[in-house]
Amino acid sequence: MKNYSSDRAMHFTESVIREMTRVCLKHQGVNLAQGFPDFPASEKIKEAAVRAIRSDFNQYAITWGTSSLRQAIADKFAWYNGITTDPEKEITVCCGSTEAMIASLMAIVNPGEEVIVFEPFYENYGPDTILCGSQPRFVTLQEPDWYFDEKELTKAFNNKTKAIVINTPNNPTGKVFSREELQFIADLCLKWGVVAVTDEIYEHILYDGAQHISIASLPGMRDQTITINSISKTYSLTGWRVGWAIASEHLTALIRKVHDFLTVGAPHPLQEGAASALRIDRGFYHTLAEEYRERRDFLLQALEEVGFKAYRPKGAYYIMTEVCHFGFPDDEKFAFHLVEKIGIATVPGSSFYNHPSLGATKIRFCFPKKMETLKQAAEKLKKLEKQGWVAGANEL
Ligand SMILES: Cc1ncc(COP(=O)(O)O)c(C=O)c1O
Repeated sequence: MKNYSSDRAMHFTESVIREMTRVCLKHQGVNLAQGFPDFPASEKIKEAAVRAIRSDFNQYAITWGTSSLRQAIADKFAWYNGITTDPEKEITVCCGSTEAMIASLMAIVNPGEEVIVFEPFYENYGPDTILCGSQPRFVTLQEPDWYFDEKELTKAFNNKTKAIVINTPNNPTGKVFSREELQFIADLCLKWGVVAVTDEIYEHILYDGAQHISIASLPGMRDQTITINSISKTYSLTGWRVGWAIASEHLTALIRKVHDFLTVGAPHPLQEGAASALRIDRGFYHTLAEEYRERRDFLLQALEEVGFKAYRPKGAYYIMTEVCHFGFPDDEKFAFHLVEKIGIATVPGSSFYNHPSLGATKIRFCFPKKMETLKQAAEKLKKLEKQGWVAGANEL
């Protein structure tokens, strides 16, 4: 019998995060696995999309995005990230940042070339590097502050390196890369002619005075960076599937070609809604960060009270925890116990690592949820103690 599987598809597994959501539905648990909000999006933004459907924005948009959305992206990128762009030539609207990432990597990486990825990493980056035929090189972010070893990173660059994937604020660690760290990466990119592909979808979710810096704003990096973003996290619209890649005219021409043949385009009426989201009153971003800080603090306390050792995130909406002291054989067994016996879905830490053993003592929780959902989760977590799974609390 002929083997119908491609080597590419056999090289990675199904998404553990999305699998945990399905297991959670089966057990009717609280989903602290997949990062999507359970609270409503802004009425004003939803109305803009409804208006667009009623006004018959129902056919294909321009492949690389409607001009109103590209203009809104350029305006916001200028005020928030400090970088001016030409929306006619330097922006490609895609189906979420997920498509923007794979389209960007496919546009610039040849089979056999190398892509550097920091681990732990957002699950998609592993398969992305495989799908574009590259050889991924992993550089570990080390606890407790998730710093990278400069020597290790320097050694990862060579003549075959084509791109480095950065994600700041970071999923799953909550790390926010500092200006000094980004400058160190930028210097290596400039030295080796490497493109920084940076996923900045949590750029507005920052805590404790952390500041978001786009590597594209550092000297010399504007034309050597692809900046990826989407409406998913900032505006709580993960299901609309609208994202974008911002890059030089040369790189954009390549990304637009790949994007066209991957998906043709993102949903037209939702692009109109997205344009209105990006023009929202600026006070929105302050409230967003403040509400997430409250949720973070609540979940941190609830986790610590029952013995999790938590890494305090500086950005994004995830908490990585250490769990080996609970006595489970590994992270997957613990995650399945949590969803099946406690009623909370989480993500086993190993799924964020190329070397699964590095994450085998970790569990990730997400908190883009109503306070009432988080309170329910906190109550359920207390069952761990009742079941005899007790450990000393400690914040890392
Ligand atoms: C770092 C990161 N990038 C991308 C995505 C997916 O974003 P989008 O909905 O824009 O495709 C996620 C979702 O959790 C994420 O955490």
